[in-house]
Amino acid sequence: MIKAAILGYGTVGSGVYNVLNSNTRLVNERAGREIEVKYVLDLRDFPGDPVEKQLTHEFDDIINDDEVKIVVEVMGGLHPAFEFTKRCLEEGKNVCTSNKELVAEHGLELMSVARENDVNYFFEASCGGGIPIIRALNDCLTADDIDQITGILNGTTNFILTEMAENPGVSFGKTLKQAQKKGFAERDPGADIDAYDPARKIAILSSIVFGSSVDYKDVYTEGIRGITSEDIRYAATLGYAIKLLAEAKRTEEGIRVYVAPFLVDPAHPLYSVNGVMNAVYVHGNMLGDAVFTGAGAGSLPTASAVVADVIDAARHDGKRAYCGWKHDEKLVLASNDGIRRKNLVRIYTEDEGKANKVFSPDGFLDTISLGELEDEIAFITPELSEEEFDNKVRAFGKVISRIRFY
Ligand code: HSE
Repeated sequence: MIKAAILGYGTVGSGVYNVLNSNTRLVNERAGREIEVKYVLDLRDFPGDPVEKQLTHEFDDIINDDEVKIVVEVMGGLHPAFEFTKRCLEEGKNVCTSNKELVAEHGLELMSVARENDVNYFFEASCGGGIPIIRALNDCLTADDIDQITGILNGTTNFILTEMAENPGVSFGKTLKQAQKKGFAERDPGADIDAYDPARKIAILSSIVFGSSVDYKDVYTEGIRGITSEDIRYAATLGYAIKLLAEAKRTEEGIRVYVAPFLVDPAHPLYSVNGVMNAVYVHGNMLGDAVFTGAGAGSLPTASAVVADVIDAARHDGKRAYCGWKHDEKLVLASNDGIRRKNLVRIYTEDEGKANKVFSPDGFLDTISLGELEDEIAFITPELSEEEFDNKVRAFGKVISRIRFY
């Protein structure tokens, strides 16, 4: 028997409680022993909920109980999650978390505290919801030198983009509300919409793949706030989908990491990843290509990954598990300026002549028109570096929108 505590009884915490109670026999069998939830910490009361038996409002009940060997931190946010996690690790308790904000900000420090105290800090659910990607990188793809990882790492924005593509005319705000209702969105939806959440996730994944810490604040991050139903209609006319991609890639110039919306070709495996689904494409020097896909957000999928960590923590009680993210030094990222891509650019029809001169090497651009939008057209630029594109926009003046081709 091993005793556990859950910090937070919100969307993920209640999911963890539910998974442990629904799949008790399987979980115990796979852990090799019985896992019992002794405490659930929350500030709120839950009258009539079975959790009442284990509910406490005092963190001290947990930290002072030597029987508790596994703590599930699913409170979200940095404080007091950081302080609670650190104290648990210092007291020799394993910690399993879905808190990507905390892992991206203090993961390395918490892993070092875990190492000093001979326990584990597991965070499978911090990236890709229910998809087993961290364990795949740490335990399964260990024979490979991985040079690229590209993912749809945010369920909320993928859900919004899919809804907008499937129901032309549906508003951004209405779709975001639906995502919030379904328990996909962050408390601050800006973390999803402005893409800080996938930036944190790709920073965590690339720290594991490349060994040194990638600071999510160094990741070029562009969200989907500016994407309109017109952009999606242009994309559909071309046969493409707009996806918010997070990518880390080793190049001759160094390691580049960025998050931005891209036009994705139907032949690409990430094109057909829709709704709340996430997917991670990995390229290894021996493996070649692999794609991991599954539910990227929501109570039970996220809880499934957390409980898998709880099982791993029970299996590793007294032993340390391997993690690829191990070096203290910060990875200095290469600039994205040199990446060359085509771009879809929307402009006002009256500016077509100027666009031909500025954007086309031979002074003639093929334009795309949506018909009903009479005062605007779109065109595809030749491959340009970021710097070249910015210089051309400076020479041209204001464009309505620009989306990069992947
Ligand atoms: N808000 C996050 C998402 C939750 O939509 O992907 C899962 O990390």
